[in-house]
Amino acid sequence: MNEEMEIERLRLETPGCSERIHLNNAGAALMPKPVIDAIKDQLDLESSIGGYEAAAEREQEIKAAYDAVASLVGTNSRNVAFTENATISYIQALSSIRFETDDVILTTRNDYVSNQIQFLSLQARFGVKVVRAPDLAEGGVDVAAMSDLIDGERPKLVCVTHVPTSSGVTQDVTAVGELCRAAEIIYLVDGCQSLGQMPIDVEKIGCDFFSATSRKFLRGPRGAGFLCVSDGVLESDLEPLFIDMRGADWVGGERYERRGDARRFESWEFAWSLVLGTGAAARYAASVGLDQIETRVSDLGKTLRGRLEGLDGVRVLDRGSDLCAIVTVWVDGWEPIQLVQELRKRKINTSAQVRSDAVLHYDERGATGALRISPHYYNTEEEIETVFEAVTELVALKK
Ligand SMILES: Cc1ncc(COP(=O)(O)O)c(C=O)c1O
Repeated sequence: MNEEMEIERLRLETPGCSERIHLNNAGAALMPKPVIDAIKDQLDLESSIGGYEAAAEREQEIKAAYDAVASLVGTNSRNVAFTENATISYIQALSSIRFETDDVILTTRNDYVSNQIQFLSLQARFGVKVVRAPDLAEGGVDVAAMSDLIDGERPKLVCVTHVPTSSGVTQDVTAVGELCRAAEIIYLVDGCQSLGQMPIDVEKIGCDFFSATSRKFLRGPRGAGFLCVSDGVLESDLEPLFIDMRGADWVGGERYERRGDARRFESWEFAWSLVLGTGAAARYAASVGLDQIETRVSDLGKTLRGRLEGLDGVRVLDRGSDLCAIVTVWVDGWEPIQLVQELRKRKINTSAQVRSDAVLHYDERGATGALRISPHYYNTEEEIETVFEAVTELVALKK
């Protein structure tokens, strides 16, 4: 995998590699050809024979997409629900918990912005308490503190974002999973940024829900995601608040019956082309190998971080003992969005974070946002050097 020939082959299978230096994989990665083909094929079929008819014709391929996603994350097909994006996955899971006044949601300071907003919305509507475990001095949630909070607060739900959007830290979701299992507390993991850049095993993590999106490190299409649901949840009476005709059958005027599998968390209408694209992306990631991917992306992240750390006027904001491929920096004299625009002029894709994307994180670091550079395995060492040189040049302009 680390052989240049292999990287070259993977790049040849990725049309976007010849257009740009794509270092915005935490935004949306470049899709490889098998993913693009799976999507286009379905659209072609839909336009020639009709949308519903195309879905019927591709029944086996759709089933294979469930299988591919399930096998990528260590679960069974019946435990997978396809959704439109990670946020919908998360909302479907969250809405299934019957919150009452003073129930506690225990989370971390690094959990994703929309999740935090949803907790606050639940607080406003139902009077739940939102408790955030402190971070370790080196970054990432303090699992020992989380353990104390589980004992002291008896939360109804524990929520941890595996890799946040705003930093390269990887939180120890498995250690938290052990605590939740021991205390029999429902556990929701946001795996949106970790899926596709490291091996995921939902059994090992011990979560009840695992939410993810297709377009990021998995290299699938935009507008698709999925939710993995544990057997424990499926055997319980948990169901999304706004369950629909996909998730349940209307069996009598006043009665519906929910499905026994994770389709209970889906809604009826689907862009099947995107589901098939997600299946193709899961197979592609498995064929490249998640262990090799993890090694390569964290190496590229580390190289870039190391180079940028040495630059006067640049502050690396990532903190944690286990850092992945998301590199975030503050550059003196520049708003992150201006940097993104300047880099885009040089055909380098990155993204900008603002304070409200991770208010606790940025306030602690005394920054109002960050330039986020997120390599994937198909990026080359030369591309890392090119972005470093471009940032060096931009820093010098403000001196
Ligand atoms: C950690 C994390 N969780 C959830 C999301 C939301 O994903 P989506 O836009 O697919 O709903 C993101 C998006 O950036 C994210 O970084």
